[in-house]
Amino acid sequence: MPSRYDDVWSLSVRRGFLWPAVDIYGGFAGFYDYGHLGAAMKRNWESLWLDTFLGLDPNYQLIDTTIALPEAALKASGHVDHFTDLLVRCTKCKETWRADHLLEDVTHEAHEGLPPAEADAKIKELNVRCPKCKGDLGPSQPFNMMFPVAVGPLGADRAYLRPETAQGAFLNFKREFEALRRRLPVGLAILGRCFRNEISPRQGTYRMREFLQAELQIFFDPATWDAQVPFDAIAAKDLQVAFADEKGKGAFAMNAAKDLVARGLPKFYVVHMAVVQDYYLRTLAVPPERFRFAELDEKERAFYNKVHFDIEVKQDSLGGFKEVGGVHYRTDHDLGGHQAASKERLEVSVDGRKVLPHVLELSFGIDRNVWAVLDLAYATGEKAVLRMPSRLAPIPVAVFPLMAKDGLDARAAALHERLRRRWRAFYDEGGSIGKRYARMDEVGTPFCVTVDHQTLADGTVTIRERDSTAQKRVAEAGLSETLAALLEGGTAFASL
Ligand code: GAP
Repeated sequence: MPSRYDDVWSLSVRRGFLWPAVDIYGGFAGFYDYGHLGAAMKRNWESLWLDTFLGLDPNYQLIDTTIALPEAALKASGHVDHFTDLLVRCTKCKETWRADHLLEDVTHEAHEGLPPAEADAKIKELNVRCPKCKGDLGPSQPFNMMFPVAVGPLGADRAYLRPETAQGAFLNFKREFEALRRRLPVGLAILGRCFRNEISPRQGTYRMREFLQAELQIFFDPATWDAQVPFDAIAAKDLQVAFADEKGKGAFAMNAAKDLVARGLPKFYVVHMAVVQDYYLRTLAVPPERFRFAELDEKERAFYNKVHFDIEVKQDSLGGFKEVGGVHYRTDHDLGGHQAASKERLEVSVDGRKVLPHVLELSFGIDRNVWAVLDLAYATGEKAVLRMPSRLAPIPVAVFPLMAKDGLDARAAALHERLRRRWRAFYDEGGSIGKRYARMDEVGTPFCVTVDHQTLADGTVTIRERDSTAQKRVAEAGLSETLAALLEGGTAFASL
């Protein structure tokens, strides 16, 4: 693992972002807890995501659904039969591994979706051995990643913890369609916990057994939506895409949206790629060279998808481009499956036609996105600074008296009390002002306000900007509005 990983991990643990769960007992592989800063930052990421994606259409809504699902529903969705990874076991030390990951470690290429016999043949050909004891590896076999739960006192009702939030939206689609305006598209978003019994959880929060997703399922009429989406507005826009045959090279090319459509992608799909790209480049301020979509070929893509591009962010702590989400065209796979198994009609009536809606899914791993922001934002070296967008910062503003005397402390404490009603503001009067700035820089606080002797004389305070370290004097009376403008703008005194 690159040492950059250790830097980000050390910041996380030391300052209160994230650490292994239950670590006083030695940890619990694949499970992590958020500390006070991580929990606040995660909340901020979630509200940015909700503002962006629910903002796309007034008919897109947030719902909240159960985590445990009965076997019948997950059988119909295909998860009972197909939600598998390839497990391989060492014949000597009995350690278990993911066959495709062992191959990937040797070839540096993705091997997801290989059938067991092909994986075994490759393992033999490349002489791949158990990474722990160098023993022979046994035959690989599919392993279902869902956690079973026995429901009821006798455990008679088989169920599973949900492996994705998406199913909650499919199961509730019909009710929401009726409760909303009986028109398509309908968007149902769910943010919440998912569970996957990963064979070998690794790379910290990249592969967890309990994790968070933010997913939007957009239900649409396949006969009409392509003509309704605002494609012309983005036709000339460049999207950063690595197609399946280019991915191994770690490259991506700029593709005008209209060229992607010429390659066969539906317009509705490309329009939403543009929305997602904007979210990363503009809202989350990911540098353009660190963002791309990566196509999954027929073998790699999830069993429910017709078109599947991962959303990837290049993270030095994880060794390169890594998946943080996906844009999935699931067709009527899920509604069709649930309709057949439940015998409940899930078609809706549109302009006198019976339509079984298709689904476009925008899917994001919250933990992976939080990690990606920490990776991109953390600058180490002489000065450690976490340069994250203001709207993500767990503590948006700190208030300091220049010195804890002459009434500066009382005045600053009163100011802090006022600001605290609006933001998670932090007050600190200990140590030199330079050290106090440095402590806030390391947790990403974009603005620090200092009360000094001039404040007592003329009612002004200084605001210091994290990224430029520039300072400006502003009136204490209008401080709240000044800060609101700065925080909303993302950075920059330029807006003052
Ligand atoms: N509903 C579609 C779906 O679940 P997925 O690609 O399996 O698709 C979506 O998962 C996102 O959830 C991934 O892009 C990733 O960000 C996150 N994710 C998946 N498995 C994860 C794991 N074991 N640990 C952390 N995040 C995970």
